[in-house]
Amino acid sequence: MKITRNLLATISHPIIPLKDRRLNFGAKWDYTPSLEDAKPYSIAPRHELFINGKFTAPASGHYFPSINPATEQPLTEIAAANAADVDRAVKSARRAYDRVWGKLPARERGKYLYRIARLIQEKARELAVLETVDGGKPIKESRDIDLPLVAAHFFYYAGWADKLKYAFPGKTPRPLGVAGQIIPWNFPLLMAAWKIAPALACGNTVVLKPAETTSITALRLAQIFQEAGLPDGVVNIVTGAGVTGAALVQHPDINKIAFTGSTEVGKLIAKAVAGSGKKLTLELGGKAANIIFEDAPLDQAIEGIIAGIYFNQGHVCCAGSRLLVQEGIYPQVVKKLRDRIQTLRVGNPLDKNTDIGAINSAAQLAKIRELVQSGLAEGAALQQTQCTLPAKGYWYPPTFLTGVTHAHRVAQEEIFGPVLSVMTFRTPEEALERANNTPYGLSAGIWTDKGSKIFKMAAKLQAGVIWANCYNKFDPTSPFGGYQESGFGREGGLHGLAAYCRLD
Ligand code: NAI
Ligand code: MG
Repeated sequence: MKITRNLLATISHPIIPLKDRRLNFGAKWDYTPSLEDAKPYSIAPRHELFINGKFTAPASGHYFPSINPATEQPLTEIAAANAADVDRAVKSARRAYDRVWGKLPARERGKYLYRIARLIQEKARELAVLETVDGGKPIKESRDIDLPLVAAHFFYYAGWADKLKYAFPGKTPRPLGVAGQIIPWNFPLLMAAWKIAPALACGNTVVLKPAETTSITALRLAQIFQEAGLPDGVVNIVTGAGVTGAALVQHPDINKIAFTGSTEVGKLIAKAVAGSGKKLTLELGGKAANIIFEDAPLDQAIEGIIAGIYFNQGHVCCAGSRLLVQEGIYPQVVKKLRDRIQTLRVGNPLDKNTDIGAINSAAQLAKIRELVQSGLAEGAALQQTQCTLPAKGYWYPPTFLTGVTHAHRVAQEEIFGPVLSVMTFRTPEEALERANNTPYGLSAGIWTDKGSKIFKMAAKLQAGVIWANCYNKFDPTSPFGGYQESGFGREGGLHGLAAYCRLD
């Protein structure tokens, strides 16, 4: 049968004939929309606090809306916990610690964690859809990256629960008591898993405060805890904004605070906790350098740069937001990057073809716009994906800036959006100096063909996580955390257990 152009056009997949595809290398192909079906997963019109194993109305009587940032439509209303609610939650966690969880054999704690992990796997599709509609991230990320990692964290720490003495040979690990945990909106379920799983494995109980724009999946997780039969009060969830978080930090009966979020709030928390005897871990912002050497496999590096900055709309504390390119390959890298970003699809986060979803909130969008404007005013040049953005919702196209200097605000401040600042270097020493020239120190990337260069650079880069010839790869066995203003303490791996134990 002769396949004509028209016949090809009736097939739903790439419809650009081979000849044109070659000519249009770098141009965007259109796919027919492939929407994830969100209908089976209903969202209750109102979400209460989760205290002592039950959903309960807030003492404040106040609720606030959670919206879908891709449509600006309200999805539900969320209870705003005040200091009295936080106190109830902490009392419930203390009771559960004293009477049940602290006394349970470690093997039993592990069983609950395994059960939770399996339930998360069973409900992964629903949780991915909720994560996407409430937070704006593409379904292919919440489905293929966030949810598998969430389950993996529970499985991983379930395994450690009855093996703590092997994790810390010669020591007698004991739990801390009640942990207050405050998490951000960029990986709502994953951050909940990073914090809850090791805390429970070590025998602590928890009061968790999700971010105000993304509370729905944490409350769905609470239902999973109920289904798993987790004893009442072992995990409590108080929703609300910064004042709710501050009430948790200030509560006198908390033994440990774990916070992920902005450096600004991290500093406030460090001050509030100082001298109180509460243990503290802070995972704050970043301004990572992704360093590309002339001997790097270029096409692979371009994919790593894209994954480094455009993953989750750049709402990633370890995003590779500064690109340092060795001078000799600068023109090629910029050209390849310019071509590659034209192929990224921005739009409906529920479409399985979407690469770049919605910006999480109007406030975050305003921050991204302001910082890019400052870059342009300081002399940078703009490259963006040419696309039509939806009329409603919060959107920012994949962007990179050339002509940036290290003194520019875009090269110094965390943008937390899909915006890359491209700069050059000549020698490895210069790359190191520039990469380390930041108050942060969370992560970095190195791209080179030479193993020896990777080790030399990694030893001198002041960053907690360093990826070599890859970027933004996560695994529960690997510790994660920063230097300097990126915070202190580690989550993940054995280090993540140590943060929830007394080891004396
Ligand atoms: P944020 O630091 O205000 O929010 C993070 C969490 O802390 C939320 O749950 C929030 O309710 C809570 N919080 C706010 N004020 C608090 C206080 N005084 N005491 C206790 N808890 C408090 O971050 P925000 O405003 O959402 O984003 C601002 C910037 O922070 C972003 O543009 C980005 O640069 C950075 N950020 C970094 C994150 C990271 O993963 N390192 C995550 C989120 C934001
Ligand atoms: Mg929302």
